[in-house]
Amino acid sequence: MRLYAALGLAACLAPVSAIFEDDAYHIDFHYALLGLPNHDATFFQKPYGASKASLLYSISENQTIGAINPKDGTLVWRQHPASEPRGRGHLRAADEQDTVVSAVGNRVTAWSSSDGRLVWETNVDGSVVEDLEILEQEDGITKDEAKDAIVLVSGTSHSVKRLDGKTGRIKWTYEDSSNDTPFQVSTSPTTIYYISLHSSIIGAGLKLKVTSLSPITGKKLDQYTLSSDTDITSRDHIVFAGANTAAPVLAWTDKDYSVIKVNIIGTKTVASFDTPGESPIEKVVLHAPGHVNSQPHFLVEYQTYFGHSAEVFHVDLKKNTVSKAYSLLELQTKGTFTTSTTDANVYFVRVTEDEVSVVSSASHGVLGRWPTARSPALARAYPVHAVSEVVVKSGTATAARSAILFSNGQWVLVRNGDIAWTRPEFLAQASSAVWARLPEVESLAAELEVEQHQNVVSAYIHRVKRHIQDLEHFPAWAQNLPRRLLGNVVGKPKQTAVDNIQQDTFGFHKLVIVATENGRLAALDVGARGKVLWNVHLTQFADTVFEYPTLRAHSGYVEVKDPSFEGSLFINSTTGGTASYVNLHLHGPQVAKGQKLVSFTLTNGVLKGALETENRGNTESVWAFEPPSGERIVGFTARPLKDPVASIGKVLGDRSVLYKYLNPNLVLVTAVSELARTASIYLLDSASGQLLHTMLHSDVDTSRPIPSTISENWFSYSLTIDSTASPESRGHQLIVSDLYESPLPDDRGPLGASSNSSTVKPSRSQGDAAKPYVLSQSYQIAAEISHMAVTQTRQGITSRELLITIPSTSSIIGIPRQFIDPRRPVGRDPNPNEQAEGLIKYTPLLPLDSKWHLTHKYEVLGIKDVITNESGIESTSLVFAYGHDIFGTRVAPSFAFDILGKGFNKIQMLLTVAALFVGVLFVAPLVRRKQINSLWTIP
Ligand SMILES: *[C@@H]1O[C@H](CO)[C@@H](O)[C@H](O)[C@H]1NC(C)=O
Ligand SMILES: *[C@@H]1O[C@H](CO)[C@@H](O)[C@H](O)[C@H]1NC(C)=O
Ligand SMILES: *[C@@H]1O[C@H](CO)[C@@H](O)[C@H](O)[C@H]1NC(C)=O
Ligand SMILES: *[C@@H]1O[C@H](CO)[C@@H](O)[C@H](O)[C@H]1NC(C)=O
Repeated sequence: MRLYAALGLAACLAPVSAIFEDDAYHIDFHYALLGLPNHDATFFQKPYGASKASLLYSISENQTIGAINPKDGTLVWRQHPASEPRGRGHLRAADEQDTVVSAVGNRVTAWSSSDGRLVWETNVDGSVVEDLEILEQEDGITKDEAKDAIVLVSGTSHSVKRLDGKTGRIKWTYEDSSNDTPFQVSTSPTTIYYISLHSSIIGAGLKLKVTSLSPITGKKLDQYTLSSDTDITSRDHIVFAGANTAAPVLAWTDKDYSVIKVNIIGTKTVASFDTPGESPIEKVVLHAPGHVNSQPHFLVEYQTYFGHSAEVFHVDLKKNTVSKAYSLLELQTKGTFTTSTTDANVYFVRVTEDEVSVVSSASHGVLGRWPTARSPALARAYPVHAVSEVVVKSGTATAARSAILFSNGQWVLVRNGDIAWTRPEFLAQASSAVWARLPEVESLAAELEVEQHQNVVSAYIHRVKRHIQDLEHFPAWAQNLPRRLLGNVVGKPKQTAVDNIQQDTFGFHKLVIVATENGRLAALDVGARGKVLWNVHLTQFADTVFEYPTLRAHSGYVEVKDPSFEGSLFINSTTGGTASYVNLHLHGPQVAKGQKLVSFTLTNGVLKGALETENRGNTESVWAFEPPSGERIVGFTARPLKDPVASIGKVLGDRSVLYKYLNPNLVLVTAVSELARTASIYLLDSASGQLLHTMLHSDVDTSRPIPSTISENWFSYSLTIDSTASPESRGHQLIVSDLYESPLPDDRGPLGASSNSSTVKPSRSQGDAAKPYVLSQSYQIAAEISHMAVTQTRQGITSRELLITIPSTSSIIGIPRQFIDPRRPVGRDPNPNEQAEGLIKYTPLLPLDSKWHLTHKYEVLGIKDVITNESGIESTSLVFAYGHDIFGTRVAPSFAFDILGKGFNKIQMLLTVAALFVGVLFVAPLVRRKQINSLWTIP
């Protein structure tokens, strides 16, 4: 029996912060994003010649290259080539090839189409790749040989290069010594055309200069200039310069979009067509098939303020003429067109908010039409651009799928009118995120606030009314009860939908409001795998170009600030609309009455603390902190506003107590000196501005980040040490410091338990005695940390976990506090007292246990910040990470002691109870008889 008890106890003591296998993918979610896809670098393509299904490839506005499975929208692979300078990204693939080729900045890279492995890479030093095409040559080259790439490079001198498709080696270079602006390259089976923009006089229009090159040698064959300068005054007027089409065309419009001019590249004739004149045109887009052997047809799309229309043109290759074939009438909805080819046939797909239809390029008869289902995720959004694949059998389109980018940043696959998946790609540019409460909780809090501000009688009446109102939900609740109970016992663990939030017993559903760099604001439900509840663009509230919005949460609304405007926007966190009331006098629920908020500003290297005065918006500066000369402040972290501490002391093995230094006003400031290669850490009291503790580290690589965090009575930070004396000593250090009132157990230090010392003027009341006793320890870790956070729970009883972000492995790791306790005994084994406390022997190296990886198999890219919040139960903290990717999970650093695991067998428990009950029924009479008998027996 005792053995079992001991075993049970041991099981409780073991560090149990691992993610269980059955929890992975269930409690967490990950949006592996690409970012908004670039239109001309998004396509369906078979990953290799014999493949049955194609993948969807794209390079995003942020130059992330990826392949998406069109079936379910999952990411197959993704690459983010780092390059300086950046520029627009290009991505190309050719039929029957097993590579895709990208160009970002100065790097041209071929990736294996099926798994994203790097095949070759070529660097055009100091230059930027302006355009990239794959050379489709019919002569001599056998099918399975890798097709060569043509790149247009701009730099000190411009050039066109042919790169070997197998190795990336440069085969030839054509140098352009003129001052023209390189624009594009276009290839036909026999010739390479290099198109540049030539302007004779400054301020005049641009002439299009076409240089034809031999694909074999790269020698100039011909050169001519099109007198387009009366029409083209900016690059935007050039609508299209065709690539890899049977008849590459150049098309441009004038400033008013009144004519469209088309030139078949290689000829000097320019055909001119009037654009449809019904409504003023806002944009012209040309869609042409991307294959060499398809029919030379193309479609010109005219976008107006309300809708769109199109005209289809045919090119006669023999006569070198362009003619209008038919038009597609204007629709009064926003929409776009895409091209799809099968063999030589070309199909155009029209994608609008509520319909997808297919026409052939030869005639205007509709081959297939699918009404599109409306989805709340796409409310008030319209298609911006798309790519499609269609299947046409004997004159009718039997299937069509289109990957459509909507104006609200959702990338959606519509298959035969049904929405197969949506990817919230706009979240890849998240700039700030805050926690908010769910609508239901929010309204209850508002009601309670009303009651708080009334006299007793009216508050009581209000409360009774509220309960009567709540009764209206009772019948539905009661009806649902048997189903819920039954479901709990036999059913599968359900995925709670947002609609039945009332059943969120554990408080796992919380909103996170995310702002993106270009001014989009969205609310995600962390408990429902990050479902997007609403998604708005902030330009509807403020007419400005957003640069980097930051958020601050208040009860019921969020405050948005941006460098592009003064003041704040207040957005209702429930609806995404403007907040109807803004509570300017209350600081939200965390700040108790009489408590004041200190805000920090870092200006010109000086950190200033300011008290917020009664009418908010006004602040009163109270102190300033400036590091010694030569040092520069790189960051500061304050203790969270809500940081509950369950125990004011730490009970040691011998039952004595080490009192924690619990100052709510701690700020940790990090400063570096580039010259001296040092980093200094300053611990300040934010109420008085008093310096409590400093630390200095030498041989620091000051160019690397120094993340830090502070919680309860401890803080931690991390540095990169790079000694010039011994270069092999470069490494990453994690430093953890505990703050105690006194080094001695059972001693409360000079201040004692007195509660009337002043935080604002500590030195006058008690000397500067209120300084903490600091215990520090450093650990060597294998990789650089870019960000740190600490888990949060409701009461702070659960031990905390340090969450670190490791960019080199794209992971987030939760280190249990126990492993980074500065009191770990150094150079000896722990004595029995220390063992009882759970301390383990200190080792300088802290291996990052794979069990601690919160992200397990996920690769979370580009994480900027990790935010944590309490859940409804004490054991569990909610974690949300954002940046390029979005990741959410929950952690239970001391094991989920207040909730039953998923594996708990409820049926077995019920059966056991029933069996015990039956047992009691049988045994009770026996026991009673025995007792009576024993009373009658004479000892
Ligand atoms: C995406 O681009 C923006 C602006 O160019 C940059 O700030 C951000 O760091 C980029 N994200 C990634 C993951 O590179
Ligand atoms: C935690 O979430 C609540 C809303 O549920 C919010 O009021 C509070 O500020 C959040 N805490 C932190 C540290 O963000
Ligand atoms: C937010 O919207 C909800 C629903 O319309 C409303 O009840 C609430 O009062 C609004 N909150 C604020 C702060 O405007
Ligand atoms: C509290 O402050 C008052 C006045 O400042 C002083 O007279 C008193 O001794 C203090 N009490 C303690 C316990 O320090």
